[in-house]
Amino acid sequence: MRNQQVNVGIIGLGTVGTGVARVLLQQRELLETRTQVLFNLKAISELDWEKERDIDLSTVKCTTNADELLNDPDIDVIVETIGGFEPAFSFVSKALKNRKHVVTANKALIATRGRELFEIAQENDVKILFEASVGGGIPIIQGLREGLIANNIERIYGILNGTSNYILTKMHKENLEFSEALKGAQENGFAEADPTLDISGGDAAHKLTILSSIASNSFVSFESLYVEGITGITKVDINFAKSLGYTIKLLAVYRVFNGGLDLRVHPTLVENKHLLAAVSNEMNAILVKGDFVGNTMFYGPGAGERPTASAIVSDIVALAYDLLLKDEKYRTPTIKTTTDAKLIPIDEITNRFYLRFFTRDIPGVLTKISGVLAEYGISISSMVQLETHEKDNYIPIVLLTHEALEKSMKQALEKIIKFEFVKDDYLRLRIF
Ligand SMILES: NC(=O)c1ccc[n+]([C@@H]2O[C@H](COP(=O)([O-])OP(=O)(O)OC[C@H]3O[C@@H](n4cnc5c(N)ncnc54)[C@H](OP(=O)(O)O)[C@@H]3O)[C@@H](O)[C@H]2O)c1
Repeated sequence: MRNQQVNVGIIGLGTVGTGVARVLLQQRELLETRTQVLFNLKAISELDWEKERDIDLSTVKCTTNADELLNDPDIDVIVETIGGFEPAFSFVSKALKNRKHVVTANKALIATRGRELFEIAQENDVKILFEASVGGGIPIIQGLREGLIANNIERIYGILNGTSNYILTKMHKENLEFSEALKGAQENGFAEADPTLDISGGDAAHKLTILSSIASNSFVSFESLYVEGITGITKVDINFAKSLGYTIKLLAVYRVFNGGLDLRVHPTLVENKHLLAAVSNEMNAILVKGDFVGNTMFYGPGAGERPTASAIVSDIVALAYDLLLKDEKYRTPTIKTTTDAKLIPIDEITNRFYLRFFTRDIPGVLTKISGVLAEYGISISSMVQLETHEKDNYIPIVLLTHEALEKSMKQALEKIIKFEFVKDDYLRLRIF
């Protein structure tokens, strides 16, 4: 660390890496004026230098060998923007062992191997920061860690995956089936060629793991989260939701509940009058309730070159303060790995439910279904039948329930789908 200068190296000049390079070069003066620190982009490592990029890198050392950055004693901060697990994990751990701070947008890496990386960072007295890993350009991690530091975080409800939000929005607005909306999202650059991680809820779960660890000040294991994706949602469900005054959203939930944490990701019916229902297309939003502040809402672009780069550079600046305040007590905190969060199993959670069945149009169907629900202590709040959506002589019916235990709902459904008049492609959603 030289006087008031921070040297930065970027590994991976793809969408995000190019954005970071652009901010560091274009906003150099702005950052210096605001921080009194010169942020110097010293080197970039990238495998493919033939790729067309609209950026002037004549002042930057360009290489294909990441080790040239990782072993350079002059580089203070390594930005990892290659994504995936390997070689990203090896590069990040090597950087930390070489006493370099690391900034990454790699939520999969942080959510699944964060514990090892934080421990390596601590052993070497350096930091790994990851603002861009959740909510792209939205400063949610700094918001939780700093802006809301005076609060116990009671709840977080997040729309954290732009791809699934885009697909669900198109299904709602253009009356599309899931597969049609996914195809459109891929054609318009809002879904990857392999969208599995986004539509399965996995990506949102990576992000919820990170937010939950920060909010609870304890370590949350990604594997312990309850996760459902959006692939089972049909046009029929969208139309039912609309007719009942709801919008379907893939929601990530953090809730302090019964002395533990209720953490889950699943498609959810959100009342149209709620702010989260209005979060459309690829946008992200995170509602955070703290015990002193009450409800706060963070909203913005959850991905893209420029928003993600904006978040990464905010971490580089935070690290610069750390570097400059080396002898001081104040240091930017990250995730605490020494205490495990106590998760409440999904079976012990209560929710209101949306149940959609396709049934034969014969007398007594409803009595039998509601009888099973009653057997498990589940009461119905409303019921709708849309004959216009008849499929192969089966008619869809939807039941909304009052608050019920997840375990009871699971048992009741196992029994209901055994009725020969019920098709087995039912759908159960939670209501927010
Ligand atoms: N894109 C977004 O909007 C966004 C938003 C939030 C977070 N993120 C996260 O940011 C990370 C990067 O995403 P991205 O969209 O920028 O990915 P990307 O466009 O695929 O960029 C990755 C870049 O890293 C390069 N690379 C791969 N292996 C390398 C190696 N060993 N050494 C040097 N360079 C290497 C790739 O080169 P080749 O193409 O030649 O392999 C590519 O140029 C991911 O973790 C992602 O989850 C992305």
